[in-house]
Amino acid sequence: MKGGYDHFMMKEISEQPDSTFNTMRGRIDFKNKNIILGGIKQYLSSIRRSRRFQMIACGTSYHSCLAVRSLFEELTGVPVSVDLASDFMDRSPPIFRDDTCIFVSQSGETADSMQVLKYCRAAGCLNVGVVNSVGSSISRETDCGVHINAGPEISVASTKAYSSQFIALVMLALKISNNVIDNRERHEEIINGLEEIPNLISKVLDKKDEIRDISLKYLHGKDSMLVVGRGYQYASALEGALKIKEISYIHAEGIQAGELKHGTLALIDDKMPVVAFATQDSFSPKVNSAIQQITAREGRPIIIMSEGDKMIDQSKASACIEVPKTVDCLQGLVNVVPLQLMSYYLSVAAGNNPDRPRNLAKSVTVE
Ligand code: UD1
Ligand code: F6R
Repeated sequence: MKGGYDHFMMKEISEQPDSTFNTMRGRIDFKNKNIILGGIKQYLSSIRRSRRFQMIACGTSYHSCLAVRSLFEELTGVPVSVDLASDFMDRSPPIFRDDTCIFVSQSGETADSMQVLKYCRAAGCLNVGVVNSVGSSISRETDCGVHINAGPEISVASTKAYSSQFIALVMLALKISNNVIDNRERHEEIINGLEEIPNLISKVLDKKDEIRDISLKYLHGKDSMLVVGRGYQYASALEGALKIKEISYIHAEGIQAGELKHGTLALIDDKMPVVAFATQDSFSPKVNSAIQQITAREGRPIIIMSEGDKMIDQSKASACIEVPKTVDCLQGLVNVVPLQLMSYYLSVAAGNNPDRPRNLAKSVTVE
């Protein structure tokens, strides 16, 4: 069952070159740069008429929505709201008939998300699912949707579902916006980037021994740590911190790098472990300045950086993990893998069972 791995979690992390490929299989014509999503075909014109996209999810699935939000807005020109299902229900905000609500869920059974789906159905908007479990409640009760086809995820901590949700949402944004001529070059760039993703994830997985050694040397036994990123990497920071918390039981906080100076810098000293996402993109100057703010206060971050990037000052880092570079909006698919691996190794080193974290369930069917 575990395919030679000690835990399902490691099996599922390692499966990502295949699971991400399966999410795209039959849906991306890489030669003609075309996206085919059978599940939304009939509803595409209604989706394109929407004045707003409202994404709803919990936990890791919520982070996959945050990871694609700016790409959605860039390509479609339509504002996107992303809400935690529980917070959405607490507010019960207005939903209009010309909104499209997108429900993202691995299990398709999460009670908080189902509750919002009922609310949205009553409001009369179009409801789209992005779900792993075929035949689940969310898959059945949405008007249409996209199955992410990641295969069963057994480990409580979600890993391969995150990368597949991310890709399914990117494909959805591409499909919705492929009638906009101005987008053509960007579309081609992203589709070419998607084709490479399984291979790039494999390259990060090849570094797992290095990532294990760095985790054990600098993070094992710590009580607390920060994970910093901005722009496309803010979602990676939140998701990385969630993984660390839920299976290694180390308190970890995902921080938007621009927010450091608004409070979190007070925590930085030579004892506070920090992981910083600093792969190259248009936000790099700002991220590098955040890293300087950390090192100036004796923080010694572990830096996740692009291969061969000469702009990163490695002299004050605890360690640097080089990852392959891809298109800016897809880089999170590569960057999240070292954090998935770190959380796994820290969990095992602490004597925990990463597949069965205390107090958590795979499918949260209570509100
Ligand atoms: C479908 C088949 C797939 C087949 C392919 C061939 C299923 C589950 N999928 O994939 O086996 O290889 O055609 O063209 O039979 N849906 C929702 N909400 C969701 C997710 C999906 O309503 O959250 C609906 C879709 O609108 C669609 C159906 O479920 O009607 C299947 O969706 P999906 O598996 O994504 O469709 P295809 O990729 O076309
Ligand atoms: C984290 C994790 C949870 C789920 C959340 C939503 O690793 O697994 O945070 O992501 O409970 O579950 P789904 O996606 O099934 O709605």
